[in-house]
Amino acid sequence: MDIFTNIQGFKHYLGTLKPQEKSVGFVPTMGALHEGHLELIKTSKQQNDLTICSIFVNPTQFNNPEDLNKYPRDTASDIAKLQDVLCDVVFIPTVEDMYDEHRIVNFHFGYLEEIMEGRFRPGHFSGVGLIVTKLFNLVKPNRAYFGTKDLQQLTIIKKLAKDLLFDIEIIPVETIRESDGLAMSSRNKLLSREERKQAVVLYNSLILAREKLNNQESVISVKKYISDYFESNSVIDLEYFEVVYTENLQNVSKIQKSDRVSLCIAGYLGKVRLIDNISLF
Ligand code: PAF
Repeated sequence: MDIFTNIQGFKHYLGTLKPQEKSVGFVPTMGALHEGHLELIKTSKQQNDLTICSIFVNPTQFNNPEDLNKYPRDTASDIAKLQDVLCDVVFIPTVEDMYDEHRIVNFHFGYLEEIMEGRFRPGHFSGVGLIVTKLFNLVKPNRAYFGTKDLQQLTIIKKLAKDLLFDIEIIPVETIRESDGLAMSSRNKLLSREERKQAVVLYNSLILAREKLNNQESVISVKKYISDYFESNSVIDLEYFEVVYTENLQNVSKIQKSDRVSLCIAGYLGKVRLIDNISLF
């Protein structure tokens, strides 16, 4: 595996690739890699001649400095995991490589960033949009891979790629779960042993909500049930539970059989923020 830790060397390498000969799959990450990330790499490897992964803890997408400081980092173990799945190239830039001190560009994604994650993490999606745009401009992949666990991020990146005419296919990859159902996330590493046991309540509540909706209970009553449940029984401090159309993340008030609907949830377990979603049918 080729490893590049500065932008100059990486640019030079990219310049040696002949576009007509190789299809490039790109997996942007913030490191602390787990099975979910490795699934993105494996999917890219099946679909492309060359797979490039980036590891960069992007400061502009953290609205909370404490969250940025404690974000897990383990580059040596990440490199070993990428080697195990035969990733071809990894790019690990510095903040100075990726950002000019006097940056003035910001993104706003309208409705898509005023809901759910956007409501609780102001500026987060602007930071995601910035770094993904920079990386897309640099790598110019044919395909880029994102997990469906971050459904709102995936929706925004699809829109970004379309609006900015990136000739890149955005490929969603299903959430990988632990054996108890907890969605894999780099943040799970920050949970204490006790919190790790409790964390599955997030996923279980989604399953319960799905059962109720599939049994024709109304969206409004299921939302109330979930919010009462977290208020009275749970160790999780719920931020939101939403029932949305998967395609555009607009709120659903009444479910029709043919609709593609997702149930999305976020909350704090102690100091760790967790998110998850499942589809309805
Ligand atoms: O999902 C992530 O890990 C990050 O938001 C991404 C897409 C790598 C941008 O920093």
